[in-house]
Amino acid sequence: MDETGIAVVILAAGAGTRMNSDRPKVLHELAGAPLLHHAMRTAGTLAPDHLIVVTGTGAEEVERAARAFDPQVELVRQEEQLGTAHAVLQAQRILAGYGGDVLVLYGDTPFVSAETLGRMVERRAAAEIVVLGFETAHPDARYGRLVTEGDRLVRVVEWKDADATTRAIPLCNSGLLLAEAAFLFDLLREVGNANAAGEYYLPDIVGLGVSRGLRATVLRCDEAETLGINSREELRAAESAFQTRARALLLEDGVSMPAPETVILAFDTVIGRDAVVEPHVVFGPGVTVESGARIRAFSHLEGCHVSRGAVVGPFARLRPGAELHEDVRVGNFVEIKSARVGQGAKVNHLSYVGDAEIGERANLGAGTVTCNYDGVSKHRTVIGEGAFIGSDTMLVAPVSVGAGAVTGSGSVITEDVPPGALALGRARQVTKPGLGRRLMERLRAARGSRAR
Ligand code: UD1
Ligand code: MG
Repeated sequence: MDETGIAVVILAAGAGTRMNSDRPKVLHELAGAPLLHHAMRTAGTLAPDHLIVVTGTGAEEVERAARAFDPQVELVRQEEQLGTAHAVLQAQRILAGYGGDVLVLYGDTPFVSAETLGRMVERRAAAEIVVLGFETAHPDARYGRLVTEGDRLVRVVEWKDADATTRAIPLCNSGLLLAEAAFLFDLLREVGNANAAGEYYLPDIVGLGVSRGLRATVLRCDEAETLGINSREELRAAESAFQTRARALLLEDGVSMPAPETVILAFDTVIGRDAVVEPHVVFGPGVTVESGARIRAFSHLEGCHVSRGAVVGPFARLRPGAELHEDVRVGNFVEIKSARVGQGAKVNHLSYVGDAEIGERANLGAGTVTCNYDGVSKHRTVIGEGAFIGSDTMLVAPVSVGAGAVTGSGSVITEDVPPGALALGRARQVTKPGLGRRLMERLRAARGSRAR
């Protein structure tokens, strides 16, 4: 039994010049998350002993993003980007004496699947070095080429350094590589930079290892998985590929989408069977929609949970922390943030509900606003079961409205309302018989005398 663990090193120091951006390349977003997070998430499926990110370009920003994803991440800097071998070497101070394997991933290669990484780990039984490769459909693609003899990988040749025969090899290097830590760093120190790019190439460890009698092998995967992002156009193409696949998976899972090509999904969108997603709905990260819910057209959802039977939209906005229980109705031009909306409650028109708790079957009339922010702090609004909030009620938090209580339309509620009470917080109406007509006559007369 092989009991050794695994350490993952994610290379994320490169400049990403072709993005033409002030933002480091690995922080550009795909499917609602930075490229780096995609690599970190996939790496996490291996439950590594170490998860190491090598930073360089925009190091501080990249490090902050890495920690935001996983506070346990270990960070090393590559001050000068001298090549992929040099980048991996920076992890040596963390991995000195480590007895397991090291898997090298790229921060700009978001589609590699957990399953493929699992297959790489299994293949280690057959060789000391496992390189992830793929057959390219584009013979001119400037990838490194994998030179094999039977099952054995002999060496990797960079496109820039390859002759015509080597360039014609369809088997390409994805860049991902798995090897035992103990000799990986020995080999890395031997790698030189006498090549076309003047860089220290990580794949050179294959040729060096083989000449020392180590075995190297190729694990093949689909070319689509190895897609790396180098430009805005490649990022767009990757987003499009992600969306196409994610929509198809949802349809297969029994979600109804009459115009799936208009629906934007995030990497982690979860939608239950028999839910309906109407056209032009955008899902940010962290959304779960349960079976049988309906998300109507032009709604925007992120960080929220929609329970069975709920109907959201059209034109609704659910922000992080919106928790809709069963059969809730959230209608047009309603925004919900950090709020639990109880079963069967309705917020149907033109409302803002933030930092709130809405009881079961409560009804919030058109134009209800929870005034949650005093300019310094946020405060909570609590509305009890079956309460009826009249249209255009301003609920100045912190405030509560008890179960079954009613607020009059146009009220500004600044004090707690006990259960069952009626609260009116507005000026009393004054009605002057005939004065409307007389006023208009006077105004018209005044305009007439000015015109003359
Ligand atoms: C690399 C491989 C090539 C393979 C291709 C697949 C080498 C020498 N070549 O080439 O065989 O076909 O990937 O896409 O490895 N990075 C650093 N520090 C550096 C240099 C790079 O962190 O000093 C990072 C980059 O940010 C990137 C990754 O390593 O995430 C790959 O670097 P890149 O320059 O894109 O390598 P390629 O030329 O594409
Ligand atoms: Mg590249």
